[in-house]
Amino acid sequence: MNRKDFVTQLVPHCTGTPGQHGEAWAPVNIALAKYWGKRNAELNLPQNSSLSISLPELGTHTRLTLTEGADTVTLNGALAPEAFAQRLSRFLNLFRPDGLGFAVETTNTVPTAAGLASSASGFAALIKALDALFDWQLDYKTLSMLARIGSGSASRSLYDGFAVWHRGEKDDGTDSYAEGLPETWPDLRIGLVEVDTSQKPIGSTAGMQQTVNSCPLYTAWPTFAEQSVQTQLAAIRDHDMEKLGDSAEHNALTMHATMIATRPTILYWTPETVQAIHTVQQLRASGTPVWFTMDAGPNLKLLLPHTAAAAVQTSFPEVRILAPFATA
Ligand code: DP6
Repeated sequence: MNRKDFVTQLVPHCTGTPGQHGEAWAPVNIALAKYWGKRNAELNLPQNSSLSISLPELGTHTRLTLTEGADTVTLNGALAPEAFAQRLSRFLNLFRPDGLGFAVETTNTVPTAAGLASSASGFAALIKALDALFDWQLDYKTLSMLARIGSGSASRSLYDGFAVWHRGEKDDGTDSYAEGLPETWPDLRIGLVEVDTSQKPIGSTAGMQQTVNSCPLYTAWPTFAEQSVQTQLAAIRDHDMEKLGDSAEHNALTMHATMIATRPTILYWTPETVQAIHTVQQLRASGTPVWFTMDAGPNLKLLLPHTAAAAVQTSFPEVRILAPFATA
């Protein structure tokens, strides 16, 4: 099955008239058990399930309007870079009414392509805006599968709080969707340590493909990652900070080990990244409960209970500490 047929079976229609519009917001999410590797690139089917936490203060707002002309894409109020605009237009082709274009106005509250998952919030906001524009009224499970086609991690950005993207078993992709977890955790904090916000050397899509194709360690990854999801589900249920932090950190390091052992190597770390990792380890050794995770980039995201915020702030003066859940 190709992605056009996949989309056609899920959406009720793609008809509209110029001027019709829709808008939506979606949060960024940080994977605690990572998605790294596809088993089907056409339908964006992952090798393993993944689990994330959304950050409600950071994300993407997108407004879509049907037009008579070619697509126009603005990002944060300016004309979007060509590669960004083309990726959106290719995705929008799957939903395009005959002969019409889309005016896309998108605003990010995170640096684009700096490892803070802006493509996740971007495609989640885009699919929600399409749902509003065409008045499909689809449920989030279906929208998560459509967002997945744009970017795998976007499937999880439909939800606030914790979300699991199920790997699924079917070849047609209809059981690979994300769902939100009911658990909240008001004491949980996420710290953002921005080591470097410049464009990364290789994007996730190409990077994970190279890893699947050439990393000798990769065969161990899918099973390990499924175990991480199970460990973390139990930790979330029990509000066990140490179990969640330890699993998230080990999962991130294992993913980065597969990246580093890819040919050619994918090394997102800078000297400042390593320095920050040592600082987290020192904090922990001196009794502060804090763990880190990293995505396809040099920046660290910290997991901590709110009681550790002051100590973490002292060691990382620039850290931005966010509360994913409403605090009491
Ligand atoms: C390291 O979702 O950006 O952030 O599906 O090819 O668009 P595509 O990849 P993408 O990969 C995200 C990789 C990650 C881990 C994660 O978010 O689970």
